[in-house]
Amino acid sequence: MRIAIFASGNGSNFEAIAKAVEEKRLSVQIASVVYDKKDAYVQTRAKKYNIPAYYFNFSTYQSKESYEQAILEQLKRDKVDFIVLAGYMKFIGRVLLQAYPNKILNIHPSLLPQFPGKSGIADAFKAKVSQTGVSVHLVDEGIDTGPILKQMCVSIDKEDTLESLTEKIHRIEHHLYPLVIQEYSEKLFKQLTNKADDNLQ
Ligand code: GRF
Repeated sequence: MRIAIFASGNGSNFEAIAKAVEEKRLSVQIASVVYDKKDAYVQTRAKKYNIPAYYFNFSTYQSKESYEQAILEQLKRDKVDFIVLAGYMKFIGRVLLQAYPNKILNIHPSLLPQFPGKSGIADAFKAKVSQTGVSVHLVDEGIDTGPILKQMCVSIDKEDTLESLTEKIHRIEHHLYPLVIQEYSEKLFKQLTNKADDNLQ
């Protein structure tokens, strides 16, 4: 199965996935990286792994639809089976949702449905809850609302600072995301092969 990873910034999750592929813990091919912020560090990481990275500048398109249409054409050229969001800071619109139904994964740094949105880690920390976590879910038209595939808890201890909590969450993300991507790609692969069998009968 071929995936595209969408990111807007640092790309540590991209790197965790690329490393898992390199070490054969994850059997997908990363066809491309799509990013929407010119200076996103993820492009440097992609270069290191020899993975093509494409920059799409939203402000040069007339609409969300035309922006996503341009991305979709690239995904088709790269024969991408499913999309993995890893710190991509735009919500996914109609064009991509229709082209990839139940085929867009996202990782969010909280135990959804708690603390959705841009600052899941800080919001949990400020709320003084005793545990938060990481969620991997399918993307729908809402913000961090799609069906949850897997979650892992992270405790917030008395001595934790926002920095130490952020570090703990990232460590869990880097462990969890490759595992869930592997499971989900196996599921999609089975669906595809069953469909192919049905067509032959
Ligand atoms: C991660 O915390 C992820 O859960 C959230 O955005 C952050 C991206 O981090 N969606 P990085 O760019 O992968 O380092």
